[in-house]
Amino acid sequence: MEIIIQKNPAAAAEIAARIVARLLRKKPNAVLGLATGATPLLLYKMLAEMNLDWRRVATFNLDEYVGLPPEHPQSYHQFMWENFFRRVNVAKKNVHIPDGMARDVPKFCSQYEKEIRAAGGIDLQVLGIGGDGHVGFNEPASSLASRTRIKTLTRRTRRDNARFFSGEDEVPRHCITMGIGTIMEARQCLLLAFGHRKARAVAGAVEGPVTAMNPASILQMHPAVKVCLDEPAAARLKRARYYRWVYANKPDWQK
Ligand code: PGA
Repeated sequence: MEIIIQKNPAAAAEIAARIVARLLRKKPNAVLGLATGATPLLLYKMLAEMNLDWRRVATFNLDEYVGLPPEHPQSYHQFMWENFFRRVNVAKKNVHIPDGMARDVPKFCSQYEKEIRAAGGIDLQVLGIGGDGHVGFNEPASSLASRTRIKTLTRRTRRDNARFFSGEDEVPRHCITMGIGTIMEARQCLLLAFGHRKARAVAGAVEGPVTAMNPASILQMHPAVKVCLDEPAAARLKRARYYRWVYANKPDWQK
């Protein structure tokens, strides 16, 4: 893992934006895995302001609430179009977001996996992390080999996300999420985390044991992960000084 600690979210998001931009310039038909939530908003804003061509890019979102139609204001469909897709020249046919209204959920999920494979696999997966260590909506105790499927949200996640709804009771109980096995097949992962509320989960993911109790910790087994943090999110990392030193002293060939 490469741990990149920056003084604030904007500086960390800028590094993430540069990584995505470099990929798109090198591979105009790149396949991106995308995340929702508050964390990637700055990244999306920066990417929309860069001069990038999204016409041939394919995107696959991590998750969606079960029971929310695409036009629901809190659906991740709305989130993505409102906060990002409408600002870039992405082709609608290349955008993939799990269907929270799928009638046959297992069938939909296996189709989603097939579409990812048919697109050539995910080149770069953008990830946030839940306060409980979830990635996508793979809550603690999720199988580390899981594929896209329905999951039940924890009370904590529903409470965390209640701020977007009119109350906790309004937050759906179920979601469709890419599995941890699905995420691990991305060629590169870019995890972003900001704020002290993420510090414990980040420390567990980076320096703790690999455990389904902190699903993000499986990223220790992935060969190409960059973790972009602000200072508060990095506050519990025991080896923060070392990570900073490594980043500041990268040899030229690695930059
Ligand atoms: P957040 O959510 O970006 O809104 O904090 C992250 C997550 O739950 O994965």
